[in-house]
Amino acid sequence: MGYRDKINLLKLPRHIAIIMDGNGRWAKDKGKLRIFGHHNGVLSVRDVVEGAVDLNIEYLTLYTFSTENWNRPKLEVTAIMELMVSTIHKEIDNFMKKNVKLNAIGDLDKLPPKCHKELNNAIEVTANNTGMVLTLALSYSSRLEILHAVKIIASKVNNGELNVDDINEDIFEENLFTNGMPNPELLIRTSGEFRISNYLLWQIAYAELYFTTKLWPDFRKEDFFEAILDFQKRERRFGMTSEQVN
Ligand code: IPE
Ligand code: IPE
Ligand code: MG
Repeated sequence: MGYRDKINLLKLPRHIAIIMDGNGRWAKDKGKLRIFGHHNGVLSVRDVVEGAVDLNIEYLTLYTFSTENWNRPKLEVTAIMELMVSTIHKEIDNFMKKNVKLNAIGDLDKLPPKCHKELNNAIEVTANNTGMVLTLALSYSSRLEILHAVKIIASKVNNGELNVDDINEDIFEENLFTNGMPNPELLIRTSGEFRISNYLLWQIAYAELYFTTKLWPDFRKEDFFEAILDFQKRERRFGMTSEQVN
């Protein structure tokens, strides 16, 4: 029996976030250029999306490119952006077949115009799909997202639209890029790194963290199902006692 069959379909996380890490090392291990790893990482994305759709997961959010990643060698950045354009273009049919709605969060204006255009087109084409919401965190920084929310809220206070005393968690969340989505219950990071790397800092306050040493291009839906199964074995107490939550 595979992991898929052991999953309790009534206890699924509504939102799963993934830090897809290890493409470069995967390629290096094979004596190839880093970009070879990124190309193979796309196959993992396709497989995991398929697995998530199969389980009827509502939201899947993938860390695809951070604002810090802009500091990588120009050749790698250019290659990643080109890969993004061709992948998004190729995947549209698949998204339509699977009823997946594409979404993106981050400083998208920084993307090369061609990439931004392809992304906007795919978002538009899939806008009426009612299945899983697939969000790509692109040119994304959680600290910038938080600062962006703070600025909007401050300006509302400034022009009298909002009272300082009325600022609460709900209002704050409404001003994050993830507005309208539930917070991720499960965060997966591949490649054996134990850090968050500026990803969804506010949103993962109570997420269950799952780390695997598998490099992203080796990660497949079976690994994804294994992570969900691990999640289902945990007791989420939210500050209470075990007796209280049981
Ligand atoms: C993740 O893999 C993909 C991106 C960050 C774009 P990496 O490229 O970070 O691979 P490693 O961590 O160097 O192996
Ligand atoms: C995080 O991976 C960003 C993405 C997966 C897109 P990095 O490889 O950039 O993270 P660090 O630099 O190792 O923390
Ligand atoms: Mg990395």
